[in-house]
Amino acid sequence: MTVDVSVIGLGPMGSALAGAFVAAGHRTCVWNRTPGKADALVAKGAAEAASPGEAVAASPLVVVSLSTYEAVQEVLRPLAGGLAGRTLVNLTSGPPPLARETAGWALECGAAYLDGVVLTTPSGIGDQRFLQLYAGPPEAFAGHRATLAVLGDPVYLGADAALPSVYDTALLCQLWAALTGWLHSVVLVGADGPGGGVTATEYTKVADRWMDTVRHFMGTYARQVDAGRYPAEEFPLDLHRMTMAVLSHASELRGVDTGLPELFTSLTARATAAGYGDDSYARLVEFVRAKPRPDAVFVRP
Ligand SMILES: NC(=O)c1ccc[n+]([C@@H]2O[C@H](COP(=O)([O-])OP(=O)(O)OC[C@H]3O[C@@H](n4cnc5c(N)ncnc54)[C@H](OP(=O)(O)O)[C@@H]3O)[C@@H](O)[C@H]2O)c1
Repeated sequence: MTVDVSVIGLGPMGSALAGAFVAAGHRTCVWNRTPGKADALVAKGAAEAASPGEAVAASPLVVVSLSTYEAVQEVLRPLAGGLAGRTLVNLTSGPPPLARETAGWALECGAAYLDGVVLTTPSGIGDQRFLQLYAGPPEAFAGHRATLAVLGDPVYLGADAALPSVYDTALLCQLWAALTGWLHSVVLVGADGPGGGVTATEYTKVADRWMDTVRHFMGTYARQVDAGRYPAEEFPLDLHRMTMAVLSHASELRGVDTGLPELFTSLTARATAAGYGDDSYARLVEFVRAKPRPDAVFVRP
């Protein structure tokens, strides 16, 4: 059997990945530990392998989507002899050290290894608005970019296999911060206005446009953070601090939780107390930065 791609692991994500390959016309071979999960895919044209070894042997491109890296190692290590010359794409989420360890092991097996993360839920697979992040040998990514593009928008980060995992955690931090800010705003505007306040839907029409301004600040401040210089021009930290006091007061008056305004007010107050009131908001990066602990080790939560 000659197939274009094999998918190992048919949880919700692996099933969506395999479904996208089948829908795009790739000959797709699938394997899952627990029987029965391949049935819907087989009905659509996928082939089911009887073992993970058979799935690896079936394709030059092997995509793995299991719950953890420990599961990846348990499934793949016995297959080391069959991996030479193939490209292994591991879309299992996990910590950076395990991504590097798996990359080193795959290299020893003679496989090209791309580590990746999926930045959407299974229903978003196949939608070009959503990203998948990849890292590993550039030629391996270039060789399979077109196939991987059926899953979403593939973004290559660099050679270090740990990069997708590092970005994944950072991007989730940004997601939670942005969504919590938006939720705070929704509660604030919902508490105001005639007839019971502004709905979340109405507010979000304007908030969506506001994200263009946020994006503009991020671009400007990224350059300042990298340069270690924070000229404020028109919007210095002193002005931010005064405006934050308005937000805290408005939140208190409306019975809105003040935890979020307190967080950025305290960072800003530390910076202005240290004499940086004329600097831009980007100066806060130095107050967000804590000293790294030399003895810190990754512990799975
Ligand atoms: N679902 C999402 O929204 C989402 C989004 C982004 C990233 N991800 C990542 O994608 C990966 C897959 O996620 P998922 O949602 O599909 O479900 P999951 O529960 O994380 O993974 C389930 C899959 O892992 C298999 N598995 C677990 N341990 C195994 C072992 N020791 N040997 C063989 N197979 C094993 C399961 O097989 P059985 O069926 O036999 O149990 C099943 O195929 C995860 O790393 C997850 O973090 C998921």
